[in-house]
Amino acid sequence: MRKVITILLSILLVSSLAACGDNQQAGGAASEPSSELADETLSEPEAALQTSETLSDSLAENENNTNDAGVESMGGKTLIVYYSATGNTEEVANHIASVTGGDLFEIVPAEIYSDADLDWTDKDSRVSREHDNEDERNIPLVSDTVDNWNEYDTVFIGFPIWWRAAAWPVDGFVKANDFSGKTVIPFCTSSNSDLGESGTLLEEMAGTGEWLEGERFRSGASEETVRSWVEGLGL
Ligand SMILES: Cc1cc2nc3c(=O)[nH]c(=O)nc-3n(C[C@H](O)[C@H](O)[C@H](O)COP(=O)(O)O)c2cc1C
Repeated sequence: MRKVITILLSILLVSSLAACGDNQQAGGAASEPSSELADETLSEPEAALQTSETLSDSLAENENNTNDAGVESMGGKTLIVYYSATGNTEEVANHIASVTGGDLFEIVPAEIYSDADLDWTDKDSRVSREHDNEDERNIPLVSDTVDNWNEYDTVFIGFPIWWRAAAWPVDGFVKANDFSGKTVIPFCTSSNSDLGESGTLLEEMAGTGEWLEGERFRSGASEETVRSWVEGLGL
């Protein structure tokens, strides 16, 4: 009888050990998907983190773009209007556009000035005649109308200096537009004259807008020079 009990107990022990082994295997088998799940569960915050990192990177980039472009920091849209007979003022206008992210508008006379027209050493040249006769300085333009003019809060206006004043093809544009509510910043290029009263005279001609003092650039002024001027305006 004792033998029978011992055999029965042994069978019981062996079968319970086997069952235990099965459970461990089941646990092991279950641990793989759960670790996959754990990986998946981890991967979501990781992805979220990556997404938020990407977002914050792109936000930072946007901030940089905004700073570079300056459009937002200037509190609205920026327009760069310019007249340029031989390209110097246009170059500065392009620098302002790339620094501010603003739009460009070129003032183009209906009758473009040829090299001969611009020869101020010739008393009979077009500029000399126009200079000598104020009545002839009313220069018809291809267009004096800017698309979406009302959307612009800041307007740079550029011109070459002619006889120590703003080249008169800009006059028609200034007279034709309402600068109310806009900050207007004159800029010019010249051989050596400074801005002088040219900005103030245009301001009087316009009669509207908040005109800042403005700046004169030498021809070939670098983008860096223009950038530090624009940044110094505190717009
Ligand atoms: C008719 C005429 C008059 C000028 N008068 C002056 C002047 O009074 N003072 C000066 O420093 N430069 C004078 N200049 C030189 C221009 O201001 C200078 O070359 C300017 O950068 C030209 O700009 P733009 O290339 O955009 O036309 C004159 C040029 C012309 C054609």
